[in-house]
Amino acid sequence: MSAMAMETIVSLCKRRGFIFQSSEIYGGTGSCWDYGPLGVELKNNIKRVWWRDFVQQRDDMVGLDASILMHAMVWKASGHVDHFTDPMVDCRECKHRFRADQIDEKDWTHYCPATKGNKFTIKAGEPCKHCGARRTLCPDCGRGELTVPRHFNLMFKTFMGPVEEDAAVTYLRPETAQGIFVNFDNVLQATRRKLPFGIAQIGKAFRNEITPGNFIFRSREFEQMEIEFFVNPHEHLDGRPADEAWHDRWIADCQAWFVRYGLSAASIKLHEHGHDELAHYSKRTVDLLYKFPMGWSELMGIANRTDFDLKQHSKFSGKSLTYFDEERKEHLVPFVIEPSAGVDRALLAFLLDAYREEEVRGEKRVVLRFHPELAPIKIAVLPLLKKRSEIVSTCHDLRRRLSRRWLTLYDDTAAIGRLYRRQDEVGTPYCVTVDVKTVGDAEKGETGDGKVTIRERDTMQQIRVPLADLETIFGHLLDAGTPWTEIATAYPRAEG
Ligand code: GAP
Repeated sequence: MSAMAMETIVSLCKRRGFIFQSSEIYGGTGSCWDYGPLGVELKNNIKRVWWRDFVQQRDDMVGLDASILMHAMVWKASGHVDHFTDPMVDCRECKHRFRADQIDEKDWTHYCPATKGNKFTIKAGEPCKHCGARRTLCPDCGRGELTVPRHFNLMFKTFMGPVEEDAAVTYLRPETAQGIFVNFDNVLQATRRKLPFGIAQIGKAFRNEITPGNFIFRSREFEQMEIEFFVNPHEHLDGRPADEAWHDRWIADCQAWFVRYGLSAASIKLHEHGHDELAHYSKRTVDLLYKFPMGWSELMGIANRTDFDLKQHSKFSGKSLTYFDEERKEHLVPFVIEPSAGVDRALLAFLLDAYREEEVRGEKRVVLRFHPELAPIKIAVLPLLKKRSEIVSTCHDLRRRLSRRWLTLYDDTAAIGRLYRRQDEVGTPYCVTVDVKTVGDAEKGETGDGKVTIRERDTMQQIRVPLADLETIFGHLLDAGTPWTEIATAYPRAEG
């Protein structure tokens, strides 16, 4: 995947209403994004299947929706006030700001003395091929000296209540995780769960990133899907300490989940954090990396947070956050395995992996091959002739009928070939076309056959089916996951 792929996706997202830049009419923020009519459906579908698969369908998980604003002590206890920083450098000339640890990953501007000061843009990490110099100055303006690195806290500060005084300072949460830890005892008491069990949460998080970028990959406001899975560190599983065994299980489950919903297995790899990379709370962290256009980058992380967070909150709040182990008759602090995924990063990966340009009968076809469960629109109902009122009214009836169960759209703003292409481009798995044969021609005394054409997005195959069968057919295709080939063999083919 090239940088071109990212530009293509950004432009498709804007053109078709997936994602817009926040506050665009004021010049945009460059660090926050708005999800348009199709984007919000795609995002909701990702969150819905994640919640269903990891919370509702498991008997060892429950959900939570904690507030974004929390007591300021939460962030002191968690270590975010002291440790949630990135090293930052500033250019003394153009005042641009960079993450010190990422500055060599940027292409850089160079005024080369060997070519009478000509200006060049040189690839990240490479020397100038004329004078051999390496970057020392500001990569953007090429002239300014950089300041020494300083630590910059990434949390957004705000004030709780009407008085802007220090006592009221708090932060927008930089991760959803802490809402789970501080509610550990509430959930335990309310649900009487036994270890191991997990608490999941989906919600917004905010980080004042020094260098947001790569579209929705790194923004200042984003959503996370997080699980804190509590295990008994004294137990053993698969012949190993339970926390270590559960950690490996979660890594495998998360990887399988992304592949199940459309990412190719070859586009994902694991990255084991080295000791210098590990967060202050982690015993071991493994990231799932995805092959984004800018290179292999973190899609999600799965960390073994040990008992760090519960112990910290216990220490700072003075409340016991332990679990009573009936077998050993002792109170213990559970260990925590944390699979933490970004919704926006997942959405970007699903978009990139689904994108295809194909040649069909000498013409370019753009198609988003989304998994049907993720596709924003499931069915498009299209009239072959919009001048025939019986065709149009049949389409509207059909849309109303199908939209009780699946997001169904009616479109008559172009000729049928064009309408199909538009649905391909937004990843709609099925189109239903109503034509003259469906409704007949009363003036000629011809009755309709009451059948419509279903066209499948990926194969572009078309079958002719009775109107009355549509709910059953789509129930199989969209709810039960029956493959198209199985349905297609049961009905006669229609000509494309
Ligand atoms: N509770 C652990 C935690 O927050 P993290 O690695 O900092 O760990 C988890 O974040 C996930 O959240 C990342 O893997 C990524 O998918 C997403 N994420 C983090 N920062 C982000 C940002 N600035 N923009 C978009 N997504 C982000």
